[in-house]
Amino acid sequence: MSKDWNQAYANNKTPWDKGAASPALEEWLGKGGNALMGKGLVLGCGLGHDVRLLAKSAKEGNRGNGAEKNFEVIGIDFSQIAIEKAEALRSSSLESYLCYDFFKYAEQPDQSNSCDWAFEHTFFCAIPKELRKTYVDCLVQLLKPKAFFLAIFFIEDPKASAASASSDGPPFKIKKEAIDAYFEEHFNLIDAYTPKRHYKSRPYGSEYVCLMQLK
Ligand SMILES: C[S@@+](CC[C@H](N)C(=O)[O-])C[C@H]1O[C@@H](n2cnc3c(N)ncnc32)[C@H](O)[C@@H]1O
Repeated sequence: MSKDWNQAYANNKTPWDKGAASPALEEWLGKGGNALMGKGLVLGCGLGHDVRLLAKSAKEGNRGNGAEKNFEVIGIDFSQIAIEKAEALRSSSLESYLCYDFFKYAEQPDQSNSCDWAFEHTFFCAIPKELRKTYVDCLVQLLKPKAFFLAIFFIEDPKASAASASSDGPPFKIKKEAIDAYFEEHFNLIDAYTPKRHYKSRPYGSEYVCLMQLK
């Protein structure tokens, strides 16, 4: 049975939500990366902690000359409760939220090639494995040519037994080595590393940062 995300938010059963933005995203932004300029989408944004960090970083101009100019970050999530909570926490005019199913959103003809960048953190692992290829196709549909995609993937422990690795999710973690197979047809990999910074409850090595650029 597929997970009822909205119910999870209604019941406050949201162990993925750490009440703060991803430390790995903070680390990436701290390096001064300026790939995320213009209009961007945060996939499966939940309460929008990462959206707010991205907006704040652009506003404070931490990302090089005029990053805030034309900067816009839209968090998308199909949980109405998550989006209402994200709206209530909104802290900048650069951020906005959309209650929409990502897969349906990508089908909207007026959204085609509309984004300069996209960011994801624990969304790829939240969807059923059989939707992963569709996920990439949707992303490609939404992004402009040469757009950037920054992802923080939730990584399977290499020492996990085959049984536990294939056990029911979400999260459906992925092996580092398996990521390329989904993305390499459409994206060039610019950078990939295990972030030094992570939530306490997610040990070093359980996340993997990839910056890709649409071909
Ligand atoms: C594991 S949570 C991560 C939330 C957020 N990125 C965070 O780290 O706190 C996955 C999120 O994806 C959302 N989600 C799952 N499937 C979705 C879909 N098809 N379209 C939009 N949002 C979806 C859920 O509602 C949930 O908020």
